[in-house]
Amino acid sequence: MKNENILILDFGGQYNQLIARRVRECNVYSEVVPYNISIEKIKEKNPKGIIFTGGPASVFGDDAPRCADGIFDLGIPVLGICYGMQLMTYTLGGNVAKAEKREYGTTDVSIDNASPLFAGFDSQNGFLMSHTDFVETVPEGFHNIGHTDSCPNAAMANDDKKLYGIQFHPEVNNSINGTKVIENFLYSVCNCSGDWTMSSFVEDSIKNLKEKIGDKKALCALSGGVDSSVAAVLLNKAIGKNLTCIFLDHGLLRKNEGDEVEEIFRNQYDINLIRVNCQDRFLGKLAGVTDPERKRKIIGEEFIRVFEEEAKKIGTVDFLVQGTIYPDVIESGLGKSAVIKSHHNVGGLPDYVDFKEIIEPLRNLFKDEVRKTGLELGIPEHLVFRQPFPGPGLAIRVIGDITESKLDILKDADYIFREEISNAGLHKSINQYFAVLTNLKSVGVMGDERTYDYTIALRAVETTDFMTGQWSKIPYEVLEKVSSRIVNEVKHVNRVVYDITSKPPATIEWE
Ligand code: XMP
Repeated sequence: MKNENILILDFGGQYNQLIARRVRECNVYSEVVPYNISIEKIKEKNPKGIIFTGGPASVFGDDAPRCADGIFDLGIPVLGICYGMQLMTYTLGGNVAKAEKREYGTTDVSIDNASPLFAGFDSQNGFLMSHTDFVETVPEGFHNIGHTDSCPNAAMANDDKKLYGIQFHPEVNNSINGTKVIENFLYSVCNCSGDWTMSSFVEDSIKNLKEKIGDKKALCALSGGVDSSVAAVLLNKAIGKNLTCIFLDHGLLRKNEGDEVEEIFRNQYDINLIRVNCQDRFLGKLAGVTDPERKRKIIGEEFIRVFEEEAKKIGTVDFLVQGTIYPDVIESGLGKSAVIKSHHNVGGLPDYVDFKEIIEPLRNLFKDEVRKTGLELGIPEHLVFRQPFPGPGLAIRVIGDITESKLDILKDADYIFREEISNAGLHKSINQYFAVLTNLKSVGVMGDERTYDYTIALRAVETTDFMTGQWSKIPYEVLEKVSSRIVNEVKHVNRVVYDITSKPPATIEWE
């Protein structure tokens, strides 16, 4: 089955991914494509509708991005957002002008709720405006369906041709019920049926993978993280034992994690799993290394080395499975193959494993869709909603040089912290939380004895993008319990501190 599709033409706006996500949240598949996609390509993709994103350019600029000629004559509905509306106006003979000053912020827009775009809205609604240029006169055939105090044409429509423009951004949270505008466009204007659901995705993917791979062999590096786990289970459902997963336990995983991954994939899914216990090898390479970037590099390189050695034992495989997801594809340049950020994917995969083709079953999914797919596939919730865990693992949470005993201290302390966060019901609201073994020893007293032991730091942040974040205001009682348990239950720790720095200026990890 081919899903109905909405094409999102990318004019360089900062919210483009968000538009694609909002469309998908309305159960319609959407794809972000370059703004200059050709008419032939559009026809080939046969979309139910097209959305033009916003963007930083002005239509007056010499190098302003423009869409292909004839796009408005295809009979396909178009919604232009911000710059997209201005471009539609400019191209169709209306008048765009430069405002004296920029309009920014959530603004009351008076809307014509008889328009299909605004069905179900009150006659005023707060939407995010962020623009300098504006539509002074709408093109012929259009009429006004919205204005603000300072913007005469905040929304316009040509109902016959199903062309719509809005100056505001419906996709952001600051716009009240903004998604409803998108939903109206999809359902009332484009007549979508809403066939994009995760269960249909799972069903179709399994069928397609079966057809593509047949009885050939595939290899997957399993990290225990969400993306590779979901990719592996999907492949397993499609080709069963013809999939082999290699799971490297480098000793830098959290307490019990290696065994949990093995239990789930070997026992629950009966996946052909090779667990490589290479803790000593990694610890050997890391001995005495204190520089965080060196640690990352050593781990990344060693990961590839071990993976290659194991892959060689299997011999030639036909497909190498990667857990690339849609944001990677968009960020690495539209339409080009995904480049894995070295920082974020230890083992960003080896060049010289013997395989014929890469297969990326999650390539079109956003992270939340990957999680939903995981749940569809029956992967346990605690794995599906796992907080992000850096590829170099605990190596960058033991400050300074790494030893087995330091790792053990950290694992135990971190386990207690995570357990108490869960007990307090905070595990879904805090996006990342972990313990760090600082390199600091300090004096303490236990019983009648003086101690000289390590300081554990607790880190917890609330963030959506991990680029910025706030330290989490964990209730004192929870912190108290964690602290008391750690000093009582973990040997060689006599002090616990809580990191109250946001990002920026601090980063989330300590190294
Ligand atoms: P920072 O510390 O840069 O972290 O604020 C932002 C997010 O990235 C994760 N992180 C990494 N992930 N390899 C990874 O795969 C790394 O080397 C790495 N360093 C940081 C971090 O856990 C947080 O989620």
